[in-house]
Amino acid sequence: MSKESLPYIVGQGDAVLKLFGQRTVDNSAAYLKDSLEPHMTILDVGCGPGSITIDLARRVPQGRVTGVDTESARPTLDKARAQAEREGVKNVDFRVGDALALPFADASFDVVHAHQVLIHVTDPLRMLAEMRRVAKPGGLVACRTWDDGTLMMVPPSEGVGRARAITQRVMDFSGRNFEAGRYTPRWAREVGFKPANIKVTTSNYTSYTPAERYYFASMMTNVLKESPMKTVALEKGLATEEDFERGIAAWEEWTTNEDGLSVGVNVEILCRV
Ligand SMILES: C[S@@+](CC[C@H](N)C(=O)[O-])C[C@H]1O[C@@H](n2cnc3c(N)ncnc32)[C@H](O)[C@@H]1O
Repeated sequence: MSKESLPYIVGQGDAVLKLFGQRTVDNSAAYLKDSLEPHMTILDVGCGPGSITIDLARRVPQGRVTGVDTESARPTLDKARAQAEREGVKNVDFRVGDALALPFADASFDVVHAHQVLIHVTDPLRMLAEMRRVAKPGGLVACRTWDDGTLMMVPPSEGVGRARAITQRVMDFSGRNFEAGRYTPRWAREVGFKPANIKVTTSNYTSYTPAERYYFASMMTNVLKESPMKTVALEKGLATEEDFERGIAAWEEWTTNEDGLSVGVNVEILCRV
């Protein structure tokens, strides 16, 4: 199996999509808010269940937002379309397309946005170059990207450490970058943005309340329970069933620990074309 052919490792399971579906512009793209104007056209690359995409559309009432995701996300895009219809948001559409070969002409959008996608593609430079290509001169490319290497958590847990090591092994094996967040400013420069035109900010995922711990741990355990990541790890001998079982149990134990805290960094880049 070549690296290119390995699937998006999180997959399109209902439980994961439900968690992603809680994302909004306020909680996931706040760094972009002040740059939005009512008439803008926006492309949301790797839009998933589309809750951010639909929220972006509400913020550009005279503009238009397009969400794009892979062929394997076709049913997810159908659900996103249905949600937009239920919510009465008409200036949004969803279509299948590859972030590494975006199906749009050069200079098509005022803003090209991606939330938590650069960490999941095999060629983040190509994705950023594509985002730059379809943005209009003077427009913006905006990405928020998790850096899994920044996660600190207490109490320390051997089981969680083991589970995280599996994720890192599968990501390495499949040509993804576990620490993608920290490299995004460099990648932006490498695809042609001038450093003076790259604004870098950060925002954390902080989990302390029971609800926050539950949300964060659920993200992790859903992938350990059933996902392309698990299939690849078992098939390639990168982990055992026991590693997964211990990892799930350890995350669940952490969720119920009233001193449990985790903090990790997202890196945001706002690049002027
Ligand atoms: C972690 S999810 C983020 C979804 C959404 N942006 C959000 O934050 O709720 C990553 C998304 O990227 C999509 N994706 C992965 N590789 C892709 C590619 N090559 N082209 C387009 N989308 C891709 C996945 O299908 C998935 O929906």
